[in-house]
Amino acid sequence: MSRKYLIAGNWKMNTTPSESVDLISEINSIVGQQIQVQVCVCPPYTSLQKASGLLEQSEVQLGAQDMSAEPSGAYTGEISAEMLRDLYVNFVILGHSERRQYFGETNVSINKKVLAAVQNNLKPIYCIGETLEERENNQTLDVVKAQVKEGLEGFPVTDIDSLVLAYEPVWAIGTGKTATDEMAQEVHAYVRGLLVDLFGDTQGSSVRILYGGSMKPENASGLLAQPDVDGGLIGGASLNAKSFCSIVEAAIES
Ligand code: PGA
Repeated sequence: MSRKYLIAGNWKMNTTPSESVDLISEINSIVGQQIQVQVCVCPPYTSLQKASGLLEQSEVQLGAQDMSAEPSGAYTGEISAEMLRDLYVNFVILGHSERRQYFGETNVSINKKVLAAVQNNLKPIYCIGETLEERENNQTLDVVKAQVKEGLEGFPVTDIDSLVLAYEPVWAIGTGKTATDEMAQEVHAYVRGLLVDLFGDTQGSSVRILYGGSMKPENASGLLAQPDVDGGLIGGASLNAKSFCSIVEAAIES
């Protein structure tokens, strides 16, 4: 089963709209025309419109960092799937550990967003991963199992092509500590098994599982060489065009 690598940049709450123009233009000039690896940038909402214009002729895809599960209405501060689609957004990160940690999102609330995304032709990048405490208590596999089962409850198998998962051990995010290649592969293989149980062999094997958590040019090749690591969700290193594009190059070589 061949899965095309996806390298996605999660810019988090960084870059003003004008700064994002520079960063996107630089990324676009380096990897904007290659098609061996799929590339996606996820700037803040306020930069999406500018980004969308800049990427019109580019192979680089646009993603958002979150969205509402609701279609429209009295939800002050929220952004709907339809609003994102209108800006040619293709991917949406959902259930990032920072959303879980600081904004009270749960497997159940994220599940609603995942279903709303796919109903609106957005591709969810559904994030899962254990905290340090959970890893030390040997709960990693149980935690990711609950996240996969509850977060993907009711996901239509007919839309399996649009599903992407990201395994991001919380203790590795923004800390400089990366999971070893073997640690990542162990969890990715386990998640693959869960997807096969949920969706069937062919379908479960077709879903891309990204690794995230201090991925950078120095460690990308080793992680991407693992059989069940199908790309990366890059935080810090995605804010520098050269670092981000080096990770894309590592995926092309892999
Ligand atoms: P990091 O973030 O690469 O800065 O660790 C990854 C993420 O949170 O998606």
